[in-house]
Amino acid sequence: MTQSPSPNLTMQQQPPPIDLKPYFLVLSDIEEDYGGKLDWPIFFGNDKPVEIDVGSGRGLFLFNAATRHPERNFLGIEVDYREGRRAARRFHKRNMDNVRVLGGDVFVAFKKMIAPHSVDAVHVYFPDPWWKRRHRSRRVFNDNFVDLASRILKPGGLLHSWTDVEEYFGVISALMDHHSDFDTLPTPEEHTPENNDDYQTSYERKKRKLGLPIYRGRWQRKPR
Ligand SMILES: C[S@@+](CC[C@H](N)C(=O)[O-])C[C@H]1O[C@@H](n2cnc3c(N)ncnc32)[C@H](O)[C@@H]1O
Repeated sequence: MTQSPSPNLTMQQQPPPIDLKPYFLVLSDIEEDYGGKLDWPIFFGNDKPVEIDVGSGRGLFLFNAATRHPERNFLGIEVDYREGRRAARRFHKRNMDNVRVLGGDVFVAFKKMIAPHSVDAVHVYFPDPWWKRRHRSRRVFNDNFVDLASRILKPGGLLHSWTDVEEYFGVISALMDHHSDFDTLPTPEEHTPENNDDYQTSYERKKRKLGLPIYRGRWQRKPR
């Protein structure tokens, strides 16, 4: 009978993860290397406008947006390091200088590391719906999140959020439409993809291929 290798041996045989700095950083790197602050001109090395993708997953939005808009910087914040590193490997391979992924919880980054009114846009695509009622408190979109987004956005900055979950979109719309810092903008139109990568995100591709409707919202931070 063939014996499976001991867990220790398997660990030893795994190559160490490649260093993806500065494409993939974690919150402790920001503490240690940047004094705990995401000071954009220092972080990106230029003063281009900054857009943040919350829960950036495999990074399709970041890749397309950063390729199409070299005049802007993009930061993904992703709590799942595996997904974040996967996205960052693609940016590293192509030496992309206007896109980075931060591994960690968006609430920590928004609250502690990002200066008020320093961000041009926040994107939240297909946030986890946490279907079970007792898990709902884990959702990213809540009062606190909207207040934090309002704090970091520049006056006139945009918040985009899409989902296939009608009930969650109702919650997101209610929070955004009733927040005194935001104006509701017209619903973005559905785009017809030209190829398999021409979707807003991987989740949008997955859900549209299943024929599910997608709910799209866009809000603008009011001038102060
Ligand atoms: C359903 S996936 C959507 C991924 C991507 N936006 C897309 O549309 O393909 C939601 C992502 O949000 C991430 N996420 C959930 N809570 C988060 C948090 N508090 N901070 C950062 N990322 C979070 C999850 O790890 C997951 O990758």
